[in-house]
Parts: sequence; C-alpha cells; structure tokens
Amino acid sequence: MKFFVDTADIKEIRDLAATGMLDGVTTNPTLIAKSGRDFFDVLKEICAVVPGPISAEVTATDAPGMIAEGEKLVKIAKNITIKVPLTWEGLKACKHFTSNGTMVNVTLCFSAAQALLAAKAGATFISPFVGRLDDIGQDGMQLISDIVTMYRQYDYFKTEVLVASIRNPVHITDAAMMGAHVATIPPSVLRQLVQHPLTDKGLEVFLSDWKKTGQKIA
Ligand code: E4P
Repeated sequence: MKFFVDTADIKEIRDLAATGMLDGVTTNPTLIAKSGRDFFDVLKEICAVVPGPISAEVTATDAPGMIAEGEKLVKIAKNITIKVPLTWEGLKACKHFTSNGTMVNVTLCFSAAQALLAAKAGATFISPFVGRLDDIGQDGMQLISDIVTMYRQYDYFKTEVLVASIRNPVHITDAAMMGAHVATIPPSVLRQLVQHPLTDKGLEVFLSDWKKTGQKIA
C-alpha cells in the first residue's frame, strides 16, 4: 500500500520523508490556506522533496477553467497530479488531462456511483473521504470496500483507490485489508502508526537487562 501525506506543511513533509515511508503528497485549498504560503511556491518545494505524485487542486468550477488552471499547475514539476472535484465538469477535465498523460486525482467522492464515473473518466486516483462519511453517521470504510470490489470486476479500470479523510490508524489497516492502493494520511495519524505501549515497555526492559550484562555490540 502506498502512503501519501495529507498536508501542505513542508516541515512536516521533510520530516516524514526522512522515514522513507512517503510515496506522495495530497494538498487541498484548505491545507494551502492553513500553510499561509503561496500555492506555487509550496508545491514547487513539495515536488522537490517527494518524487511521487503530488496533488494540486484546481479551484475553477467549469471544465475550461479547470483545464486552464491545471495546465499552469503541471508546469511546476513532472510529479504534479491535478486534483479535480467529482462533478460533471471535473470529470470532463479529468478525461482531458488523463488522455494527455497527466495524472489526475478525482476528489470529494462520497458514493460508489461517483467512483464508477471517475474510473470511466480515466482517473489515476479516486479519493473517497471516509472520515467525513463517518462524521455524518455513514460507514466510510464500507464505501472503500464497495469501490475496491467494483473496480476489481473490470481489468481495464486502472484507477487507484486513494483513501482520504483518514482520522485514525484503523482506517488505514482496514483499507489495506480491503486492498485499497493508497492512503493519504494526516501527519499526526502517520506518526501514530508506529506506536504501541507494549513496544515501548518491551524496549525499556530489554535495554535495562542489556545494561546489566556490561556488554557492547559496537
Ligand atoms: C484528500 O485529498 C483531502 O485533502 C483530505 O483527505 C480531506 O480530509 P479532511 O476530511 O480531514 O479534511
């Protein structure tokens, strides 16, 4: 499973890239606003740190506008992935870009029917938002299971399921068990993945017992 980090905070991205776990980055207008920085400057820096797909979201709502914005964004770096919303206009823009070999992430997916349309539009990634579905009392992970199952029926669908709006480590392990291709993870949740109290406790005991032996390995 590929791990993307869901942030526009370059300090966090550098730090997490050093773990060797990062395969890409997703940003959105909210995350860019949170960074307080220029969109193009931030993306340029992110693309230089992480070689995998870096999602940059358009803000126009009509296909020609999305295409014009996307064409500016792809010039930033080879690994830019154009992010478009799951609307008819977004799907038209998706088809335009993927037919020209540009990667597209179709975002704001909340139903299996929408995911089907994105695959038909040739999306590189579909982003179903699990946390936001959970927030309104629906089962976000059931949607992931449905999309993975649906896509598996058709060899010619190349769209990867990119689980978004992740709130906790269980979302990630459940998505991996379902066979989702990618998880885009907030930095705090990515850091949580390694934590287990028994690991900390076990290491403490091993180190103190080792100290008693008076030996050194190197
Ligand atoms: C995905 O690409 C989105 O940026 C993100 O996962 C949305 O998450 P949120 O629901 O926590 O805002």
